[in-house]
Amino acid sequence: MAVHYVAGINEIPEGTHKIVDVKGFSIGIYNVRGEFHALNNYCPHQGAKLCKGEVCGTNIKSQVYQYIYGRDQEILRCPWHGWEFDIKTGKSLFSDKVRTKKFQVVIEGEKIGVVIGA
Ligand code: FES
Repeated sequence: MAVHYVAGINEIPEGTHKIVDVKGFSIGIYNVRGEFHALNNYCPHQGAKLCKGEVCGTNIKSQVYQYIYGRDQEILRCPWHGWEFDIKTGKSLFSDKVRTKKFQVVIEGEKIGVVIGA
């Protein structure tokens, strides 16, 4: 387990992300309302570059025939077939069993690191 520093916190303003290559992984670092999250840039469906997808929200629980948009900036939609993933957990929105790998993020001063090999 090792921390690899990949960016400065000022490089990834709120609502944006940066894709970095570390130890053979392509990883998307996301700033969701000031919290940093790191996801594998690989969709478990058919292998698309997941982090090239749109960051958005989703329909949240509501009554029948009601559509309420929520969780803005927390959802990553795969660019190929639209599977959606929770940026904070890496889990898909449709099944707890389908997820993309999430890496632990370490903030040290102004630097953002990801933990590889945990
Ligand atoms: S490859 Fe991502 S949804 Fe199909």
